[in-house]
Amino acid sequence: MPPAREGGLRNAAAVASCERKGMKTLGKRLENRVAFITGAGRNIGSAIALQFAEEGADVVINVRADRQQADDLVRRITALNRKAVVVVGDVTDPEAVDRMVQTALDEFGRIDILVNNAAIRPSKPFLEMEIEEWNHVIDVNLNGPFLCCRKILPSMVRQKYGKIVNIVGWTAFRGWKDRAHVIAAKAGLHGLTRALALDFADYYINVNTVAFGYIDTRRNMEWYRGNWPSEEEWKRRIPLGRPGSMEEAAKTVAFLASDDSSYITGQVIHANGGALIY
Ligand SMILES: NC(=O)c1ccc[n+]([C@@H]2O[C@H](COP(=O)([O-])OP(=O)(O)OC[C@H]3O[C@@H](n4cnc5c(N)ncnc54)[C@H](OP(=O)(O)O)[C@@H]3O)[C@@H](O)[C@H]2O)c1
Repeated sequence: MPPAREGGLRNAAAVASCERKGMKTLGKRLENRVAFITGAGRNIGSAIALQFAEEGADVVINVRADRQQADDLVRRITALNRKAVVVVGDVTDPEAVDRMVQTALDEFGRIDILVNNAAIRPSKPFLEMEIEEWNHVIDVNLNGPFLCCRKILPSMVRQKYGKIVNIVGWTAFRGWKDRAHVIAAKAGLHGLTRALALDFADYYINVNTVAFGYIDTRRNMEWYRGNWPSEEEWKRRIPLGRPGSMEEAAKTVAFLASDDSSYITGQVIHANGGALIY
């Protein structure tokens, strides 16, 4: 690894370097950054990709298997005069991760931002859970981010700049019935956030977690199977009285991907309308 910075952030040269690397104005906070977003073909992942492009970033869109899933997203990002590159592959497959990251580096020369968004969230009573089911969830939700971080961090270290945002749910902090594997994996992912924040602080790499509560996605609409909670029901669950929108979710991630959060690392931002305090 190249030498880390010397001294603390009070070191004048280090502060100047932070400033050179750009405190962006609101609205274009990610100007000319390159972001790699996993599971970006739909829902929150694609909202993050679009938000990043609106804020000035070029985007690498990872989809698991279906390239066409990202067609509309690519059109919308291109219309914003930003570049979008689609990389197809399963984040649990080390060779696929290596290939996708290499494609991104060949295309853009660097990756400034990694968002570990891809996840699966099946429900299963704990005593019926087979080891294969447990392992598969750990593989996607925890090992996938490990592989992506491991492959992308060396280029961030070289350029002494990087932002990693790991996405979890509020359930990682409060538990949820029949989701032991999901919760264990996501709690582990926040552990990875804290570990990497320490390991890479000397390279100006910030690593943080966003924990969502209820976000209004198509997946959730399917999950409620036509029984979307009433306004009264939402008020019982969430102080703000409604689920969050995908745009609100994406804006929270954009904040942590930008230099507006330059003094935040190893932390979690809870975006849940206050649900965790109920
Ligand atoms: N929506 C919520 O209310 C909520 C609440 C708490 C936390 N979150 C977190 O927010 C993130 C996004 O949630 P979401 O609701 O948008 O999820 P989603 O609709 O289920 O989308 C998940 C994405 O991950 C991709 N993916 C799954 N396994 C993958 C793999 N092995 N390799 C590559 N990509 C893979 C999926 O691809 P395919 O389409 O090919 O399956 C899909 O694009 C997740 O980390 C989730 O845990 C969401």
